[in-house]
Amino acid sequence: MGPGWSSRLLALSLLFPVDPLGTLTFLLLGQGLPSCKGIRIVGGREVKPHSRPYMASLRLKGEHHCGGVLFMAQWVLTAAHCLFNRERSLVQVVLGAHSPSNPEPTQQVFDIQRVILHPDYNPLSHQNDICLLKLSRKAVLSSSVGLLKLPRAGVDPKQGTKCLVSGWGSLSDFGESPPGLMEADVSVLGRETCNSSWKGQVSSTMLCANSGNWKRNGFCTADSGGPLICGKHAQGIVSFSGTWCGDPKTPDVYTLVSAYIPWIQNVTHKSK
Ligand SMILES: *[C@@H]1O[C@H](CO)[C@@H](O)[C@H](O)[C@H]1NC(C)=O
Ligand SMILES: *[C@@H]1O[C@H](CO)[C@@H](O)[C@H](O)[C@H]1NC(C)=O
Repeated sequence: MGPGWSSRLLALSLLFPVDPLGTLTFLLLGQGLPSCKGIRIVGGREVKPHSRPYMASLRLKGEHHCGGVLFMAQWVLTAAHCLFNRERSLVQVVLGAHSPSNPEPTQQVFDIQRVILHPDYNPLSHQNDICLLKLSRKAVLSSSVGLLKLPRAGVDPKQGTKCLVSGWGSLSDFGESPPGLMEADVSVLGRETCNSSWKGQVSSTMLCANSGNWKRNGFCTADSGGPLICGKHAQGIVSFSGTWCGDPKTPDVYTLVSAYIPWIQNVTHKSK
């Protein structure tokens, strides 16, 4: 880990053919080059298998595509851009995984019964990049499959709060798959600072985090849709980042989960 610039450049070019996130669309629309947009964990470590049992792997035609978090036995929270313009029948949710690709006896695999994109999701501004997935049946909770709590409505983690970001995104070098679930330490960054770095694109329903120091190789983003875990709660959902992994000029941006608690409760209650 801690790749040099050249391997990043290489990884960048290799990402284009497999980028599930619409990089080309963004390029065409003049949005810059969000190459690291939810692609990978860099400078992190492999977690002890099944120590984060709430982590969901979203598989598009069988390939790991995005992360998510199980917060009720039949509900997964993820990013809207992971499902936007996707055929629901091509996506499955895998719980109880450590490996991004190999079958494991702990795994539970689900079809998706309903995809509920936030009604005000805007793929250009990244506003409301949040989505709920109702699984085809309830997950069986075990030592490898468990729930992560959502925060209370309105909680806004303070600048400097230590968090973790977790996912199965490719490692930076050559975009190869990680051996298992990875995680990296990050700290919450002040929203104003982040907003000026992003030239006014950061709203009050987004949360920013970075490595907490000036190191470029501290981390990149995790898989899109995966959680930013602060203490016992999923405070953020990986949404977007800049051209260069870990570039302090463009800190990683997450959807602020606490801003959507009323919406989440509305959707999950109504659906019972
Ligand atoms: C971010 O900056 C823009 C432009 O200056 C401003 O309109 C917006 O309100 C700011 N967002 C926050 C959360 O302060
Ligand atoms: C909850 O659902 C109702 C009925 O669909 C809708 O009118 C209301 O705006 C929703 N509230 C929130 C917070 O999403």
